[in-house]
Amino acid sequence: MSRAANPLRDPRDRRLPRIAGPCSIVLFGVTGDLARKKLIPAIYDLANRGLLPPGFGLVGFARQDIPADEFPELIREAAKAGARTPWRDTVWNQLAAGVRFVPGEFDDDAAWERLAATMQELDEQQGTGGNHAFYLSIPPAQFPVVVQQIERHGLAEEDTGWRRVVIEKPFGHDLASARELNTAVAAVFERHNVFRIDHYLGKETVQNILAFRFANQMFEPVWNSHYVDHVQITMAEDIGIGTRAGYYDGIGAARDVIQNHLLQLMALVAMEEPVSFNAESLRIEKQKILANARPAPRLDAHTARGQYVAGWAGGELVRGYLEEDGIPTDSTTETFAAVRIDVATRRWAGVPFYLRAGKRLGRRVTEVAVVFKRAPHQPFSKNDVEELGQNAIVMRIQPDEGVTLRIGGKVPGTAMEIRDVLMDFAYGGAFVENSPEAYERLILDVLLGEPPLFPQHEEVELAWQILDPVIDYWAKQRTIDTYTSGTWGPTSADAMLARDHRTWRRP
Ligand code: BG6
Repeated sequence: MSRAANPLRDPRDRRLPRIAGPCSIVLFGVTGDLARKKLIPAIYDLANRGLLPPGFGLVGFARQDIPADEFPELIREAAKAGARTPWRDTVWNQLAAGVRFVPGEFDDDAAWERLAATMQELDEQQGTGGNHAFYLSIPPAQFPVVVQQIERHGLAEEDTGWRRVVIEKPFGHDLASARELNTAVAAVFERHNVFRIDHYLGKETVQNILAFRFANQMFEPVWNSHYVDHVQITMAEDIGIGTRAGYYDGIGAARDVIQNHLLQLMALVAMEEPVSFNAESLRIEKQKILANARPAPRLDAHTARGQYVAGWAGGELVRGYLEEDGIPTDSTTETFAAVRIDVATRRWAGVPFYLRAGKRLGRRVTEVAVVFKRAPHQPFSKNDVEELGQNAIVMRIQPDEGVTLRIGGKVPGTAMEIRDVLMDFAYGGAFVENSPEAYERLILDVLLGEPPLFPQHEEVELAWQILDPVIDYWAKQRTIDTYTSGTWGPTSADAMLARDHRTWRRP
């Protein structure tokens, strides 16, 4: 429902929708999985919501040879298959007028000349205003050549309008490679024109962590080691690696999602209040956390990793990781990773952050659980409280978006029996607005030149600095634990928490 149609909207609220100005996006890797499933549908949805300008261009640059006249149809099919808003031919027709395809290898200068000519043609005929965003949805090994070609062909010069580069993860595979990539990008684009995508930061529920913490009075006073026992951050997926063997094998769960999504979530949960919500203030606070975060010293005891084997998931019998197409039968890539992170600040000293992520787990759920210490004194008998757990605030990132408070409540009856009960805030019940897809929000922010939701290179490098020792330690192991698809990971993950006298939540 639009803001205007929202019956609960305060009529004095005159905030205008954020609409991008004239511009075009060049999509590198346009035939890839991410572009087809997420980026193209998000662009259509933005157009459908009226947030793209009439003068908009979408240029695909890819190595795969597609006849230029078939390209718009390819885009149309991807948009139609993945769109979250209703399909409207009028919207598509307007978008299609600015769709172009430039086939070519990334090192082929002639193809880049064709790209430059296409951009100019769009500016003149489609009214894209000389503003160009270059979206790199390609493997990181290809970033340097593409960025250099952009410069070589004069496409980064802000002579007619702005020039921005958008970079998809993985941003390197360790600290050293991330630094190299950052240097290559910084040689061509100024800092404020580089937009690194971590799509979790585009999710409403992730932004709500800041609203929850800093717009309310009642949580911040207990948000520290005096009250908090530990924090669990879980990103569980029920899917396997699907058709992404080429990307995933050799990368694994830690590099794929802990280095970026989970450490960003941790930074948002742990950081001090920023002086404002501008990009710089947010970056400063997140960076302080990442700079002071380290894996717990005993990597053997405080990390766990595993690989899924065949089992039942989502009601069907699924094959194991080593049986997936394109995976070497001796691969030791982890599809589940868990690590304990300690944050050495006054607020968090002694409060472990347990991060875990995995594929083919029990169900799809991402959540942050802040688990509190027990009350120092309970004037009840042991029997009264034997079913009482620890208080917790659970921020449900997806799919059932909301926040739950777990507290103790008296069981109705003549005895004083206390048990855990849940207080629940659910997005679906509280708001009439639908959450936009993360990529819609992020693409729009790129086009508007608004950087708060994009990690800067310091954050990316600090995240590698945290994870590198863990990855190096795992690389020395010859074997990897396994877990049955549809379960909650290897037993070593349970043992890891048991050593600290804790257990993982079963979300
Ligand atoms: C991506 C990872 O960053 O996030 C994928 O590369 C993962 O492996 C995906 O499946 C999950 O995203 P979401 O938004 O569905 O939680």
